[in-house]
Amino acid sequence: MSFTVAIDGPAAAGKGTISKAVAAHFGFAHLDTGLLYRAVGAKVISGADPIAAAQALDPVDLEDDSLRTPQVAQAASEVAVIPQVREALVAFQRSFARRDGGAVLDGRDIGTVICPDADVKLFVTASPDCRAERRFQELSAKCMDITLETVLADVKERDARDRNRAAAPLVPAQDAVLVDTSDLSIDEAIAQAVAIVADARR
Ligand code: DC
Repeated sequence: MSFTVAIDGPAAAGKGTISKAVAAHFGFAHLDTGLLYRAVGAKVISGADPIAAAQALDPVDLEDDSLRTPQVAQAASEVAVIPQVREALVAFQRSFARRDGGAVLDGRDIGTVICPDADVKLFVTASPDCRAERRFQELSAKCMDITLETVLADVKERDARDRNRAAAPLVPAQDAVLVDTSDLSIDEAIAQAVAIVADARR
């Protein structure tokens, strides 16, 4: 039987960590849909056409470690405004959502466009300063040469593009439960999300 958890929110709000933990807790499969756009963005950086790259995307393309860089994140946000790129990625996401045994998908438009009938929807957010600080720590730990100011500017630029685009903008679904992680520890944020999903399963 399928059970779909849709988790949306802006960059570095904690959706990835929460999604993985929720999936592990309930034994569901997890899809980080940002990786789809990152994989297309990476191909565009290497010279590919964005629409052709999205149409030819292979799940193996999602396993590349280099998709985690800030440059690829910006390229992902840029290709994500193109309606034909988004359309090319819909079927894969919907079939993942319907798989037997339950699925957690995280992204920007899961609760609004990809799975409007999801069994439970969360919108995970945090202040821009807080998100930039977390992303800065994460990238510094990977020895990336970057400043907090650059990361904050990057987060704000991506937020603006993701929220203001015409196709599937980042906006909470009307029936999404808001989780603000600004003042929560990772464990507290996960506990809140798990409780919301457990409640929806009753
Ligand atoms: O979640 P992320 O930071 O890895 O996503 C990278 C970019 O991909 C993000 O800035 C916008 C785009 N994206 C999207 O438009 N829709 C999604 N469902 C997931 C990501």
